[in-house]
Amino acid sequence: MKNIVWHPNKVTRNDREKIKNQKGCVLWFTGLSGSGKSTIANELEYELNKMRYHTYLLDGDNIRHGLIKNLGFSDLDRKENIRRISEVAKLFVDAGIITITAFISPFIEDREKAREIIGTKNFIEVFVDTPLEVCIQRDPKGLYKKALNGEIKNFTGIDSPYERPLSPEIIIDTKKYDIISSVSLIIDYLKNKKYLDFR
Ligand code: ADX
Repeated sequence: MKNIVWHPNKVTRNDREKIKNQKGCVLWFTGLSGSGKSTIANELEYELNKMRYHTYLLDGDNIRHGLIKNLGFSDLDRKENIRRISEVAKLFVDAGIITITAFISPFIEDREKAREIIGTKNFIEVFVDTPLEVCIQRDPKGLYKKALNGEIKNFTGIDSPYERPLSPEIIIDTKKYDIISSVSLIIDYLKNKKYLDFR
């Protein structure tokens, strides 16, 4: 950046993490609309909060009301959505927060870029694997119906692609795992990888 000089803060990421007894990280949820990302992410945050960990949930449907307000669902807009979220999540990691993001994030390239921006050791990709037929059947917001009728264009899974993660850190097969066991799976991962209680 020309004429802009990075100024180091006196309080470091490590200082912020130490008083929270946790490591900052991003649980990057990806999956189709209606796959259960937001539901599992919400329940996960609830459990971590009960355990007195410091968390923040960035959820597509909510963030699109503010920070992402000016973006739609073209490939380019989705790319910019994921870039902004990655930069925000990176700040949250520096703040020592267990950050949960729930965005479809349909493109491998954009998720890999997110991993690069956030730093691979801070990035935990969580694939919520629910078959498209199940999402269409659930259709919690009635959007698949509209997309199938042609009322919504570029809808993920209908006329816009979803690229499945190739090697996510965590896969939640929602045919096998209910919400509670999905949350336990993720909390166990965080414990095993020493994101929690690291003192
Ligand atoms: S992303 O592709 O850019 O990551 P994001 O997670 O922010 O998507 O937003 C997805 C949510 O927006 C969906 O859960 C759905 O409620 C709504 N939505 C509206 N139009 C579309 C569309 N064309 N494709 C996918 N989701 C859409």
